[in-house]
Amino acid sequence: MTKKLKFGIIGYGFMGQTHGETIQRLDYAELVAVCDTNEAQFEFAPEGVKTHTSADELLANSDINTVIIAVPNQLHLEMVIKAAAAKKDIICEKPLGMTGQEVKKMIAVTEGVVRFTTHHQRRWDHDYRVAKEVYEAGTLGEVYTIKSALYGFNGNMHDWHIYPECGGGMLYDWGVHLIDQILWLVPAKLKTIYAHVNNVVNEQVDDYFNIQLYFENGVNAQIELGTYFLNSSDNWFERHWFLGGNKGSAKIDGFNPVGEITRTSELLSNVPGQITMTHAGPTRSFGPAPAGRILVEELPKVEVNHQMFFDNYYAFTQGQQALVVKPSETLRLMEVLDAIRVAAKYNQSIHFE
Ligand SMILES: NC(=O)c1ccc[n+]([C@@H]2O[C@H](COP(=O)([O-])OP(=O)(O)OC[C@H]3O[C@@H](n4cnc5c(N)ncnc54)[C@H](O)[C@@H]3O)[C@@H](O)[C@H]2O)c1
Repeated sequence: MTKKLKFGIIGYGFMGQTHGETIQRLDYAELVAVCDTNEAQFEFAPEGVKTHTSADELLANSDINTVIIAVPNQLHLEMVIKAAAAKKDIICEKPLGMTGQEVKKMIAVTEGVVRFTTHHQRRWDHDYRVAKEVYEAGTLGEVYTIKSALYGFNGNMHDWHIYPECGGGMLYDWGVHLIDQILWLVPAKLKTIYAHVNNVVNEQVDDYFNIQLYFENGVNAQIELGTYFLNSSDNWFERHWFLGGNKGSAKIDGFNPVGEITRTSELLSNVPGQITMTHAGPTRSFGPAPAGRILVEELPKVEVNHQMFFDNYYAFTQGQQALVVKPSETLRLMEVLDAIRVAAKYNQSIHFE
């Protein structure tokens, strides 16, 4: 029999309110109550929704079968332990914990007790799904490089995100999404991790990182993000993907992506040298492709949106679909983040799996 998701939201700030709005649109869900230690947030609660100033109060409400945890990162572990003890199914915000160890504790208290997932809705980002479809179609041949980049132009960092003890910094904020996307994209053991993580303008937390993930199937993924790529244009961010294989490459730009696939039906190697002139002098390595060998194709059309995270979660509760964001995957992700910190601190590569 169909059972509605009856939600309580713990932490009714930016993300809690975003979830509140989403739930209002879902015919299989209802928002029962919200909780926040700051009562000013209740102004944004929809009419008829109960409000509480403590998680314990909200968790005592037997009308709620599922909680969303959307408090600052350092509080996720405590809330997951409480919610599991109250036998509520749990959707927790990212980063799931502050460390892999914390996530292990969460899995220990939830496994076999309640349903448990992480809100990694960026698995349904449009640009990412286009990159994923191109990768999986195999038309690029053997993919050896993937670049995923996000550049912000204002240096924006805000609220608790600037404090390390709250799990601030861009690695935990956006990095966790961008790395999750790569780990879900490349179905291979992650052999080696190398990373630079810098505080460019923020004194306490990172606001730039450049991470290399080398996989057993030969893919080298580079993930670069910075909030301080100052720019005078109207743009305030740039999102880029590049995928390179031995039969083709793909450029995908923007969250609503534009770009193209360029490929060849034959492997290009040892083509006759032709001298071309550049502003930096003559070259034979970089020149026009032999006539007729290069095919330009459109990016695949993909229909996705973030609500699909909830659609999948609901279908999972009904036994109709497998859960997309599995706790074991989030544990691996958080262990990768731990390793990135070590790699960056000691300036060394880490052998991972
Ligand atoms: N998935 C995403 O795309 C995404 C985007 C933004 C934020 N997040 C995550 O959502 C979480 C919240 O981030 P945010 O940007 O909404 O922060 P926020 O500061 O806007 O909201 C957090 C709220 O939690 C409340 N709070 C603090 N301690 C509490 C407690 N003990 N009990 C109840 N409420 C408490 C605060 O008063 C605040 O209203 C973080 O884990 C963040 O990483 C995820």
